[in-house]
Amino acid sequence: MATRRAKISIIGAGNVGATCAHWAAAKELGDIVLLEIPERGDFAKGKALDLACCAPIEGFDSNIIGTSDYKDIAGSDVVVITAGLPRKPGMSRDDLIQTNVKIVKDVSAKVREFAPDSIVIVVSNPLDAMVYTAWKVTGFPTHRVMGQAGALDVARYKEFLAMELKCSVEDITALLLGGHGDDMVPLPRLTSVSGIPVLDLLPEEKVKACVDRAKVGGGEIVKLMGTSAFYAPASGTIQMVEAIVKDKKRIIASAAYCEDEFGIARGQKGKGYFVGVPALLGAKGVERVITFKMTADEQKLMDESVSHVKDLVSTVTKLFPELA
Ligand code: LAC
Repeated sequence: MATRRAKISIIGAGNVGATCAHWAAAKELGDIVLLEIPERGDFAKGKALDLACCAPIEGFDSNIIGTSDYKDIAGSDVVVITAGLPRKPGMSRDDLIQTNVKIVKDVSAKVREFAPDSIVIVVSNPLDAMVYTAWKVTGFPTHRVMGQAGALDVARYKEFLAMELKCSVEDITALLLGGHGDDMVPLPRLTSVSGIPVLDLLPEEKVKACVDRAKVGGGEIVKLMGTSAFYAPASGTIQMVEAIVKDKKRIIASAAYCEDEFGIARGQKGKGYFVGVPALLGAKGVERVITFKMTADEQKLMDESVSHVKDLVSTVTKLFPELA
């Protein structure tokens, strides 16, 4: 017997949101709701209709609607939150916190009200603090709230390595952990090319250059385009959506809730943080955080990245003490 189609709601019909809808439709992952604030008029309706008209060409069967009414997200399996301002040249992700925390807080309250059983993927920046905000406001169990960052950061790292190695990106396996900031944690030790350690194929400085470029990859694109990247952020998001709606149990670097994992909030029950870690994604959301033994140097980098995430969260809780 056929199963019913998944319902995927995307909040924010800007560059990232609309591109998420595009990838989700192209992969025929389910029916799609694209929601935009009423101040933008019928913009989301226009985007949705334009995309829907690709169906006969691309051959996908997805109902795609644009709306400003949160009632339309009822029954969603997955809600992707992309709402918020993007970066302008010269801005860090952190510079967006004051504006975006308010937006993500309001959106999350609506998600709690209209899609209380959904799995939430946050994409808005500064990512790690926005996931925390969505978790606090929705009150959803931690396995149903996560952030997209690692999928993108790992993709950038792999792409830069493939450019250097002049080989297919498909043969590169890699991992980056930590917050979605310039201090994300590279793991060249765990990077391989068809099973061959990358450090056997490229000099350490070349691998480091790829890592460094991935760390500031978002900024490089902002400088070139004048706004935040959207193709790869959306592609990373839809990789996560696909893992969930198809119950694939894929292990994708995601901002997932951690307490003891990687020493993030040692022994502090209920006081954890959302940080980029390998997460097993399936129908229940983050079904497991995969841990492994880090070297002392890797752990030190992780601790530094996590302390940055903690600072961002404390900015959130200073602005909105009820989120502490
Ligand atoms: C980037 C933004 C989306 O890394 O955070 O491009």
